[in-house]
Amino acid sequence: MPRMNRRTFVAGSTASSLALGLTRPSGAATAETEPSGPDVIDVVLSVNGAEHALAIDPRVTLLDALRDRLGMTGTKKGCDQGTCGACTVLVNGRRIDSCLTLALMHAGDRITTIEGIAQTGKLHPVQAAFIDRDAFQCGYCTSGQIVSAVGLLGEGRALDRDAVREHMSGNICRCGCYPHIVDAVLDAQKAT
Ligand code: FES
Ligand code: FES
Repeated sequence: MPRMNRRTFVAGSTASSLALGLTRPSGAATAETEPSGPDVIDVVLSVNGAEHALAIDPRVTLLDALRDRLGMTGTKKGCDQGTCGACTVLVNGRRIDSCLTLALMHAGDRITTIEGIAQTGKLHPVQAAFIDRDAFQCGYCTSGQIVSAVGLLGEGRALDRDAVREHMSGNICRCGCYPHIVDAVLDAQKAT
């Protein structure tokens, strides 16, 4: 299927939905209410090494597909508009806000969520460092922080405190755990 951007997709699907009287809130589809109708498109998402075939409304974001269709609720919804980073996942190793992209655009991509960070039952060094450094309070931002940190280490840009702060500035922590988060990322960098 040819790739298309979000703007093109939303414009096209919204117009056709309005014409057909099929509008509904983004993400309204759940496992209990399987989507149906002319707008539903088949897609296979590769998440944490497993393939998932979905019939999906093209307007559903990757975040909503992960949480509401696949039951992977480790990825959090905070702002739902790309400003908090709670929904961070890796797509082909690159950090993205999953609330800002459509699930349908990621057929064939390698998606990694917080549920896929630990390997063979062993915590990832970033996860272990977050525990050791007590780098969370309420924990709501933590999965996004950890996935973002894993991505940052892969980028090789966690050079010092300032660099970690800069390159993780898209991940907001309302509990203000930033000093411990930076400590944890730097510890993990030394351990990897
Ligand atoms: S929920 Fe995606 S950036 Fe906040
Ligand atoms: S630990 Fe509460 S928002 Fe970060």
